[in-house]
Formats: sequence, structure tokens, C-alpha cells
Amino acid sequence: MDEQLEVLLTREEIQEKVKEIANMISDDYKGKEVLLVCVLKGGVVFLSDLMRYLSISTEIDFIAVSSYGISTKSSGVVKIIKDLDTSIEDMHVIIVEDIIDTGLTLRYLLENLRTRLPASLKVCALLDKPERRLLEINADYSGFAIPDKFVVGYGLDYSEKYRNLPDICILDGE
Ligand code: IMP
Repeated sequence: MDEQLEVLLTREEIQEKVKEIANMISDDYKGKEVLLVCVLKGGVVFLSDLMRYLSISTEIDFIAVSSYGISTKSSGVVKIIKDLDTSIEDMHVIIVEDIIDTGLTLRYLLENLRTRLPASLKVCALLDKPERRLLEINADYSGFAIPDKFVVGYGLDYSEKYRNLPDICILDGE
């Protein structure tokens, strides 16, 4: 079956929302320096827009994780495949994620980064699929709640494809 794309969120809607989130973060962290920890690879487009709308002093770093086990989506077993370059001790850290689905990746990241003693640790996720959540976990800054559909574009992939689409689209027939 052919893969078909249906636009769920347009590039204009996304930009508006990213600006709104950036304004909230700039207000909340006024006078502070913030470290944005981007979760690769899906968070990279969101990070690059978000950081340019911030009016506060900002550093960035990257972490890559992979779920593995018999059922990758629900095993909850996550491993770091690329760690941060520097210490986050005493820094104000915001995790920048593309989407919170089951919440397992985020729980792992929060638990792991907390042990590194940041001054504060928050989560910013562009998309949220609340219906799929297996854990009580939510972002501090959240863009759009979306239905339980597989989406691609704006950093999100299907088998590494479609990350470059400027809109967020529902992928059918995968
Ligand atoms: P979680 O651990 O189940 O919350 O999974 C989060 C990760 O799953 C995200 O960072 C994405 O990489 C991936 N993911 C979940 N839903 C989608 C989707 O609809 N499209 C693309 N990737 C997704």
C-alpha cells in the first residue's frame, strides 16, 4: 500500500505555537541562562526554531536515546546512544522533545538527567499523544495534543524519511 500524507498541522500553525512556547520560556527564565537539551533526531527542527524565538541566554546540547527490547515501543528499556557533551550540574535544563507518546523515553531521560544535579529540569514537547500514555508524565511546555495517529514531518520520521517536511502530516498506509 502506498504511503499517504494528510496535513494535520500547517507550518504557519506550528510557527505560531513555537513562538508562544518560546515567549513563555523567555518569561519564566528571565535573567537566567538556560541549557536546551535536544533529543535526537526528532527534536532537532523544533529546537532550531524554538531557540531563535527565545530572548534569554541559551546554550544547546544533544542526547540520543534508543528504545530496545522485544517490543521497542512498550519495553521502557532505553539506552543512551549519544550522551551530552558537558556536565549539566547547577544549570537550568529544558529537555526539548518532538513528541510524548507512551512517556517511557521521557521518564528515562528525566530520571537519568536528575542524577546529574541540574539546578532545575523541565520538559518542552511540541506534540503530545495523551491517549497512548502508559505513565503519568507530562511536559511543562506542550504544543499540540494530537490524536493517536502516526505523524511525520517537522523532524519526525517514518523509517528516517519525511523529517524535512515543513508541515506535520498524518501518515496512512505505512
Ligand atoms: P515514547 O517513549 O513512547 O513517549 O516515545 C517517544 C518517541 O517515539 C518520540 O521521541 C518519537 O521519536 C517516537 N514517536 C512516537 N510517536 C511518533 C509518531 O507519531 N511519529 C514519529 N515518531 C513517533
